[in-house]
Order: sequence, then structure tokens, then C-alpha cells
Amino acid sequence: MTLIFAHRGYSARFPENTMRAFIEAEGTLANGIELDVQLTKDGEIVVIHDETVDRTTNGTGYVVDYNYSDLRKLQASYKFTESNVQIPSLKEVFEWMQSNNLLCNIEFKNNNVPYEGLEEKTIALIREFGLSDRIIFSSFNHYSMVHSYRIAPDIETAVLMSDRIYQPWIYAGAIKAKGIHPNYKRITLSMVKQAEANGIHVRPYTVNDPKKMKEFIQAGISAIITDEPVEARNILEAR
Ligand code: G3P
Ligand code: CA
Repeated sequence: MTLIFAHRGYSARFPENTMRAFIEAEGTLANGIELDVQLTKDGEIVVIHDETVDRTTNGTGYVVDYNYSDLRKLQASYKFTESNVQIPSLKEVFEWMQSNNLLCNIEFKNNNVPYEGLEEKTIALIREFGLSDRIIFSSFNHYSMVHSYRIAPDIETAVLMSDRIYQPWIYAGAIKAKGIHPNYKRITLSMVKQAEANGIHVRPYTVNDPKKMKEFIQAGISAIITDEPVEARNILEAR
């Protein structure tokens, strides 16, 4: 059965990467959420996509230049009408996950800003909350996936791919990743079937087109990552 991951939460309808978007994603019967993590100046793991706060808050500047308490003062509602929406810490997300069974795909946003210790801190928090079997790490920084696997081999890793990689299931297996998370525009159904047949989960992003959702589901894909979890659930249930 194909799983549904709500990309940055239910981000088509609610401010991305906020508790509101995650809670609403749970209401759509998504199987999991996808979120992005970075570190503040004082070392808090926070959930935000961009390296700067400019697009999604009323502030400006780099996440890494903020202390957590100052980041929390920003409004993270951007184009939506919600008020009092803040950038969550990963700890806040984990506290909420104690009340549900959702999976969580944590994307390390460490391809440009190095964020020393991001993997170690995240793994320590996962251990504290006993969530290792509900987490999938991913990153465009594949060294980060190798590093994560070395220090926490029990937590699943996946390779984010914006471009094509030749036989990505072989590459993923070689670095001990259990999944590939490709841009959905860069894969064929034949690649999906071969990867899945080789035991590598394929979870493309960001599949919002109902036609593509149907095709991937029919091909037996492990999961899709989407801003539109309601649409995906409707398609799955209509089968
Ligand atoms: O993890 C899938 C997807 O979120 C990767 O791209 O830019 O939306 O973080 P982006
Ligand atoms: Ca992401």
C-alpha cells in the first residue's frame, strides 16, 4: 500500500512547516509528515525550509543568525491568514508525535550551511522520545546520510535526488540508504518498479498532480510526498 507523506505538513492549505500544518495533515489521514530542519545560533533544531526567514515569516535574515527565543517572536503565517503561527522546534513536533502514530521524514537542510552537529543533535532527540522506528532521514547532502547511518544505523536514511542518477537503487544500497526521494519529474515508472523490486523504497516529491499520483500508485510505489494529502487519500481510496 502506498503511503502518503504531507510535504511540510498540509502545506497546500496551511502555513508550511508549522504545527498547524502538521496537525491538519494528521486530520487528512496522511501516514506521515515531511519537514525540514536547521539549527539556530544557540543550537536549537528548528523546522523551516529556507535558510533565511524572509519568505515564510515577517522577519529577515539567516536562521543560523537567530537565537531560538528571537526566532519564536516571528510570525510564520506568510501568505495565509492564520495568526500566532510560529516556527516550531523539532522537540515540539516530537512532543505532538507522542499522541499519534505518524511517520516523520526529517530532511536535513545542510547542503549549503554546514550546521555542525545537526545529525547528532537530531538523533539524540529521537532517542529521548523513542521515535527511531518512525523516522526517515533524507538530505540532498548525501555525505550527511552516510554520516547519519554511521552513527545511527537503526534509523532509516534516504537519498534526495533533484537530478537523475543512473540506477539509483544501486547507489542507495551502496551508501546503506533504504529509500530514494527523487524529484517526481526525473523518474520513470520503469525506474520506480526496478527500485522497488530491488528493495529500495521510492518516495517522490512533490506529487500534487492527481494523474501522476494515480500512475505512481498503480506502479506500486512505496509512498508519495505531496502538498495535497486529501487528494492523494481520495485517489487511494477510490481504487
Ligand atoms: O523531501 C522532499 C522535498 O521536500 C525536497 O525538496 O525543496 O521541498 O525541501 P524541498
Ligand atoms: Ca523538504
